[in-house]
Amino acid sequence: MRPRGTDRAGLSVGEIHVWTARLVDDPGVTAALLPLLSREERARSAQFAFEHDRTRFIQAHGRVRQILCEYTKTGAATLSFARNRDGKPSLVSPANGPALQFSVSHSSDCCMVAVRLDQPIGIDVERLRDLPRAIDIAQTYFAPAERRALNDLRGTAQRDAFFALWTHKEATVKALGVSLAANLARVEFDLDQVGGPRLAAWDGDPAVAQSWSVLRLAAAPGYVAALATAHPIGSVVCKTQ
Ligand SMILES: CC(C)(COP(=O)(O)OP(=O)(O)OC[C@H]1O[C@@H](n2cnc3c(N)ncnc32)[C@H](O)[C@@H]1OP(=O)(O)O)[C@@H](O)C(=O)NCCC(=O)NCCS
Repeated sequence: MRPRGTDRAGLSVGEIHVWTARLVDDPGVTAALLPLLSREERARSAQFAFEHDRTRFIQAHGRVRQILCEYTKTGAATLSFARNRDGKPSLVSPANGPALQFSVSHSSDCCMVAVRLDQPIGIDVERLRDLPRAIDIAQTYFAPAERRALNDLRGTAQRDAFFALWTHKEATVKALGVSLAANLARVEFDLDQVGGPRLAAWDGDPAVAQSWSVLRLAAAPGYVAALATAHPIGSVVCKTQ
């Protein structure tokens, strides 16, 4: 008999599994994953103008299915997803299956998936890169205090702080499942002495900082990633697909 509060893949209540999958330039991998996708996912994949983007989409969605079926113990192709009005996907849990919550992010060759039971989570990964428009992007999506903190930095320190802030903000908004573009500026982080973001406020209200956990994740080399949840975390276990 399974211990109470533990699902079949060993995911216990409060535990978060963070999976990393590499997306590769290998048509054989793409062809093997394509049959796992739904008709709707295949239609979306066909809309990409560039083969590189189509490949990444197919592989990311195929990997997500392979990861989630570790927990549901059903076929990857049989998984069914719904989306809320702001685009957050959710798993339509199979009968008697675990109540899985998950979040997905992909950037360049890296796909990360966070999975937990019952409570919503958000994840974001970004490839660390020079972004000449960083300050312009911050103007639109960052809170005033975050913009001031960035403006005080230069060079790689500014770049690293931008991506640290971006991933922490996006992971937080993804956990809520609301519109990413409309809400990124509402969540505010400050930077500690080594440039690590700490949740400060939502719409100026500091109460969120007490209840949320927003963590930097150990990502693949050259990537930055963050995980967010408004519910207590027992442990975070990193896995590769
Ligand atoms: C909306 C935007 C912020 C998200 O981009 P992104 O970081 O590439 O997206 P991610 O790969 O991390 O996440 C996308 C996934 O999150 C999930 N998702 C989508 N909407 C979601 C929502 N509202 N809440 C939670 N999850 C959501 C989906 O699984 C989606 O994957 P799919 O599209 O393959 O189904 C981006 O498209 C955008 O508008 N960027 C403009 C700003 C900019 O220039 N950014 C660059 C600086 S890094």
